[in-house]
Amino acid sequence: LCSHRHVRKPADPGADGQALCAGWLAARAAGGHRAEPCLLVHLGQVCGTRIVPCPCGCCPPERESMKFTVAIDGPAAAGKGTISKAVAAHFGFAHLDTGLLYRAVGAKVLGGANAVDAAEMLMPADLEAGNLRTAEVAEAASKVAAIPEVRRALVEFQQSFARRSGGAVLDGRDIGTVICPEAEVKLFVTATPEVRAQRRLLELQASGSETTFDEVLADVLARDARDAGRTDAPMKVAEDAVLIDTSEMEIADAVDAALAEVERRRDLA
Ligand code: DC
Repeated sequence: LCSHRHVRKPADPGADGQALCAGWLAARAAGGHRAEPCLLVHLGQVCGTRIVPCPCGCCPPERESMKFTVAIDGPAAAGKGTISKAVAAHFGFAHLDTGLLYRAVGAKVLGGANAVDAAEMLMPADLEAGNLRTAEVAEAASKVAAIPEVRRALVEFQQSFARRSGGAVLDGRDIGTVICPEAEVKLFVTATPEVRAQRRLLELQASGSETTFDEVLADVLARDARDAGRTDAPMKVAEDAVLIDTSEMEIADAVDAALAEVERRRDLA
């Protein structure tokens, strides 16, 4: 049985390593009517089975609606975005980059809005704005994120995203500590400020910026200090989080470490 107990490996798995759905095998054994294996059973996407309803009806309903939250926190440019996307893609979970919420509020404040009003009236389309990745918006995001009423306005959306059916990955600063203290998996992805500044510098240079390492390092340190030093939901490592320090790691190895941890917890769930 797979970790979700509704998929059985056949005695003779396909050459591509696919496992076959127990319901499909039973239907076939009974001279069944199903012409194809259930799409839910590809081993690399077992959790994806909970997003697409099983066409053969073998998956118990409680499995279909199973909730599984992966909380990934850490400072800017540590690699948590890349890791979060990879975990979501691998397991078929939905992904929310919660920094975008604060960036969207920060962008509105730069446009003259009141921070609390902007947070309370935030719409999904606001997360699509084209300017959210700029350094100016990042700084504004970090500032509005220190306002308790702004954080409060964004809690419910994040918590309901976290408990959606089929699993969710949320990355941010306070996911494992405040938003989802009950998350099944908590990771804290970090790296030294110098390594993170160097990564950010390369990204900025690739997009034509002429900034220097010292300037980028100063920005990184200022943002860390603000995000970790605020009184409401500061960035910190949850007691039960697994630390992944990417300072001297290839990103592929960091992704593998995260996938292994999620896999381990899923087997226990
Ligand atoms: O992850 P990011 O760089 O896009 O986040 C931008 C800012 O938003 C970050 O400096 C702090 C804030 N933030 C936060 O306070 N809590 C979160 N869960 C996510 C981001």
